[in-house]
Amino acid sequence: MEPKAQAASDPRDWTDDAVAARIRQLKNRLGRDVLILAHHYQRDAVVAVADAVGDSLKLAQAAAATSARHIVFCGVHFMAETADILTGPDQAVYLPEQRAGCSMADMATPEALEWAWESLTRAEAGPVIPITYVNSAASLKAFVGRHGGAVCTSSNARNILIWALSQEAKVFFFPDEHLGRITAHDLGVPLPDMLVWDRGLPLGGLDPEAVRAARVYLWNGFCVVHQMFFPEDAAAWRQKEPGIRVIVHPECPIEVIREADAYGSTEMIARTIDAAPAGSKWAVGTEINLVARLADRNPDKLVVSLSPHQAICANMYRTRPLSVLRVLEGVAAGEPPPVVRVPVSVAGEARLALDRMLTLS
Ligand code: 13P
Ligand code: SF4
Repeated sequence: MEPKAQAASDPRDWTDDAVAARIRQLKNRLGRDVLILAHHYQRDAVVAVADAVGDSLKLAQAAAATSARHIVFCGVHFMAETADILTGPDQAVYLPEQRAGCSMADMATPEALEWAWESLTRAEAGPVIPITYVNSAASLKAFVGRHGGAVCTSSNARNILIWALSQEAKVFFFPDEHLGRITAHDLGVPLPDMLVWDRGLPLGGLDPEAVRAARVYLWNGFCVVHQMFFPEDAAAWRQKEPGIRVIVHPECPIEVIREADAYGSTEMIARTIDAAPAGSKWAVGTEINLVARLADRNPDKLVVSLSPHQAICANMYRTRPLSVLRVLEGVAAGEPPPVVRVPVSVAGEARLALDRMLTLS
C-alpha cells in the first residue's frame, strides 16, 4: 500500500516515499499541465516520480514535444535552458534545485569563446564551423547558431560531425575535449590533425602555422566525473571477471574508450545493458546513480562500476523528491517558483543551432 503524505507535518521530515505519495497526489490534480523529466543520473527516488527518464537528447525531444504548461526538469541547468528554448512562451521550465549546474559547461564562457574566435580569424585559420556539446550555456549555443554551427549531444555527435566535416571547413568543438576527439577520430580524423585549444591562452596556446594546418580544434574542457575512469580499470575487471564487457560514456578520455567494448550516451548504455542476455557481465564507465540502478533492475546480470571510486555527479545529486514537491506545491497554489527563462535574443539564435541538431539526429 502506498504511504500517505503526512500533510500536517513539515515535509522536510517526511520519508522519500511520503514525499513521492504527495507528488503523485499533486500530479493527479494537475493532470497534463505538468511533465516531470529526469536525467539518468538522478537518484532513484527522483526517477521514481518522473514521467520520462533519458539522456540529454531524449529529454530535449520530450520537452520539444510536450504541450504541458509546467515542465519540471530534474537535471542540471543547461538541460533546463535547452528545454526552455525548445518550448513555447506559455510553457514554464523549472529546475528544482537552481544551483544544479555542470562544471564542464562552466569551462566555456561566451567571452572566452569570442576571444578564441577572433584570434582564429587573426591567424587566418580559414572557415570554421563551431559545434557545441549540449553541456554548455545558452549563450554558447547562440554563438554557434550565429556562426552556422550546431549543437550535439553524446548520442548524435557522430551525425553532427559527419555534417560539419563534410563541409570545406575546420571544426571548433567545445566544451568537451574528449567527446570531440573520440567522435572525430572514429570518423577518420587522425589524432595529429586535432589540436587542443587551451582556453586560457592566446590562440589557444598554439602555433599559428599549426592552427592553419589543423582540421579540428578541441576546447580543453572535461567532465570531472568521467575523469575518474582509467584504462587500467578495464584490465583489472577483465582479470577479475573473465568475459566481462566494458561500456563507457564518451566523456571518458580516449585511452579509456579504447579499452572498452562499446561507448555511447547514457541512454545507449542503459538500453544495451537492459537488452543484454542473462548472465552477462558489465563494467560501466559512467555516473554511479545510473550504474547502481542498472545493477538493481538487472539482477540476472553482473553490473558494476568500472571505477573502484564513487563517480558521482554532485550537481545531479542535488535534486531530491522534496525539491520536486516544492515546485509542484507552488504550481498547485498558483505561486510557482522562478522559471528558467533564456532571454529571447539569446534563445532565437540558440534555437537555430538546436534545430540543426534535431534535424540531423
Ligand atoms: P547524456 O546525454 O549521455 O545523458 O550525457 C549527459 C551528461 O551530462 C553526461 O555527463
Ligand atoms: Fe556535467 Fe559531468 Fe555532471 Fe554530466 S556528469 S552534468 S558533464 S559534471
